[in-house]
Amino acid sequence: MFKRKRLDEISWDEYSSLTQEEQAPFLVQNNGRPYHVLLAQQFDRESLDNLCDLATRIRRIAKSKAGMGFLSSLLDHKRAMLYFHQPSSRTFLSFYSACLILGIRVAELRDPSISSEQKGETMEDSVRVFSSYFDMIIMRNPVQGFVDKCAWMLSNTDRPLPIINAGPGKDQHPTQALLDIYTLQRSFEKCGGLEHKNVLFCGDLKRGRTVRSLSRLLTFYPDITQTFAAPDELQIGQDILDYLDAHGIQYTVTHDFKGAIPEADAVYMTRMQDEWDTKPGESARIRMEDYWFTGDDLKRLKPTGVIMHPLPRRHEIDTACDNDPRAVYWRQMRNGMWIRSALIATVFCRDSEINNYYMLNIK
Ligand code: CP
Repeated sequence: MFKRKRLDEISWDEYSSLTQEEQAPFLVQNNGRPYHVLLAQQFDRESLDNLCDLATRIRRIAKSKAGMGFLSSLLDHKRAMLYFHQPSSRTFLSFYSACLILGIRVAELRDPSISSEQKGETMEDSVRVFSSYFDMIIMRNPVQGFVDKCAWMLSNTDRPLPIINAGPGKDQHPTQALLDIYTLQRSFEKCGGLEHKNVLFCGDLKRGRTVRSLSRLLTFYPDITQTFAAPDELQIGQDILDYLDAHGIQYTVTHDFKGAIPEADAVYMTRMQDEWDTKPGESARIRMEDYWFTGDDLKRLKPTGVIMHPLPRRHEIDTACDNDPRAVYWRQMRNGMWIRSALIATVFCRDSEINNYYMLNIK
């Protein structure tokens, strides 16, 4: 558990010059729960286990009308703003659904052409506007560092409120990593847990923010090995490899995706992130067919192996795989709703109530 540091006692220049590991203690509450959720590095093994357990309890409680009635009474005095400046289906809808499960009323702004940003209002001012009306902002923005700046800014106003990072720039997608960890835990709960597994990442690893966050969180699990299969142009960043080295994690970097499949316990596919191209047609020139998971590859995958994908997909997983029980990408998406419910409940300190309800009524 981090010892909390205060965002209102540090200047933006000082805060933004810290490493992400150094920033993490500024994002927690006095009680150790997360306040702003911006980085994978602000979680540790204990907080991941707590969130996964809470997600499972919410999932089980939500199966009954009485359970849903309990959950939706927990935060029915709160309002959340979904401020998405980049396209999204899963993250937006799963946060939306998570808020509804907990009774939170939700508003959204996804199209800046209908906001006063059209009149020249800055995005920073828009965020301050939302803080007048809402109790939480869930934000996806393409500008690197913008979500962090907003979190710092609001913590330095007389109306601070939590910000959840729903995917900024190319760097991180922390709540996707939470749902990925939850999916891996659920997938391996009957075969030894997540420990000692080999996770094979494939595709656009350089610009895939989900991989960058998940790779970091996997370092909390004993004896996990990571394999990165991609063409040179899209290979995982040296900063992630340095992070793995610093944490003593075994990894392999390869071009041989097909050869790596039989050794993998989880194959984590990603799509080409060509929205980040710096030159026209840059991604289209890269040959990716060797990095697609085909129906034939199902024969190479362990019987206990799983195929994951943050989605959306293009061609990188053949639809012939979709009904194989090892294809968990649909379940992965739904897990996002449960883990995001658990996260929001924890930020608003309702986790103990949920745990008590579960012990009394479900267990
Ligand atoms: N996985 C994910 O972030 O999907 P969306 O872009 O649809 O939210």
